[in-house]
Amino acid sequence: MKRSTFAMVAMIAVAAMVGVFAGSSPAEFVDDNTPVPPVGAEGGPLFPLSSGELATWISGRRVFDRDFHSEDGIGFPDFNGDSCRGCHQDPAIGGAGGLDLNVSRFAFDNGGAGPFTNLFGGQLNHRFRRPDTPGREDPPKNADVFEQRQPPSILGLGLIELVSESEILANADPNDANGDGVFGYARFINVNGVDELGRFGWKAGVPAIQDFSNDAMSNELGITVPDASRGFGFETDADGFPDPEVSLSEIQDLSFFMSNLAAPPRGGATSPLVANGEALFSQVGCALCHVPMLNSSVGPIFPYSNFLLHSVAPPNFRGMAEPDAPSGFYRTPPLWGISKTAPYMHDGSSETLMDAIFAHRGEATSANAMFNELSAGEKTELLAFLNDL
Ligand code: HEC
Ligand code: HEC
Repeated sequence: MKRSTFAMVAMIAVAAMVGVFAGSSPAEFVDDNTPVPPVGAEGGPLFPLSSGELATWISGRRVFDRDFHSEDGIGFPDFNGDSCRGCHQDPAIGGAGGLDLNVSRFAFDNGGAGPFTNLFGGQLNHRFRRPDTPGREDPPKNADVFEQRQPPSILGLGLIELVSESEILANADPNDANGDGVFGYARFINVNGVDELGRFGWKAGVPAIQDFSNDAMSNELGITVPDASRGFGFETDADGFPDPEVSLSEIQDLSFFMSNLAAPPRGGATSPLVANGEALFSQVGCALCHVPMLNSSVGPIFPYSNFLLHSVAPPNFRGMAEPDAPSGFYRTPPLWGISKTAPYMHDGSSETLMDAIFAHRGEATSANAMFNELSAGEKTELLAFLNDL
């Protein structure tokens, strides 16, 4: 069903890949005895947990860390990696991944003239294919638009789920009613006939953490899941292994772990540079999208995001489109822990925080210009603030 050209090349590439995985991770990174960092620390729990909850959290961490192998049914036969941790581990398990772990997508947009069309097999261009399957998936020949996606840090994800829909909608301004040049709209995902707020992923295409567990298991690892009834993940695949390839309790523990991973702690620098930088951050308009505080069911949280879609893309940008999320539109990323997750932007094209700021165009053209007009000292202050988040 998938194209299978360059079979030999693919087999060699897969053999090399298997070697790399075997060499780089001879054992799992964590096991049940790996110390749990303190509550609130990087890679630690979000809240104090009861002993039962802690056991679930540790079990979920083990699933996040688990290296899946051929005999576990890895692959669709296509896949992007062999563990969640493999792409999400900086600065701690659950963190971000480097450029080498980008996931790539393709489609057809008729040279930019449109209309944007998904091609056979969907947008994902998987990196690997099972060694026991001939050929590898290639983008169809007429693909003419491509996009790289960076593995974001998922530390603090659980708090985003605790923000009410109305709190997020309060910042939306889809028609720019206040005329400040900054829009921002919420994306809704139809799940079995009900519209749910999209909260996760670069284009806010996923409403809930457990949906992402299912989605990533299938799309990144090629592992079938027990329950895809909400439209995320796959219950069966073409690799010939008995489905589902993970159990419901593994998916639930994994989701519990991700929901209960601490948000990155503030650096806590007391230098006045940081306070001045925070004032400048608001003054130049960064805070219009990177909203410092949102209320959640556990009190105020400080993600520095409104979790709405904006376009800060340069003119003529060509990228992936999804229903209600056109090319160039991304969810404002949270900035907590940002100093530790370089490179930046959805494709990792900005090496430093300064590069990321200068890459903002579109709705952030004015913020970019105002940042540019700051004195060198003020720019240093704003960066000191970002580095403390
Ligand atoms: C090959 C690398 C790779 C692997 C393996 C991988 N991910 Fe990801 N992850 C990504 C990328 C890239 C994104 C951004 C996807 C997008 O929005 O396009 C992402 C996004 C996420 C998000 C959304 C974060 C947010 O801020 O909204 C979650 C949650 C997540 N992954 C969980 C997982 C889990 C759980 C697994 C294992 C089952 C996993 N990932 C395996 C690369 C990976
Ligand atoms: C109009 C809304 C908007 C404004 C204003 C804005 N940003 Fe952003 N910011 C975004 C969006 C959307 C992205 C993701 C774009 C992408 O990945 O292509 C982003 C990405 C970033 C990133 C990279 C995050 C990551 O995880 O890769 C940083 C850092 C950042 N912004 C800082 C700033 C600063 C500092 C300012 C003010 C000078 C600013 N932003 C102004 C919406 C905005």
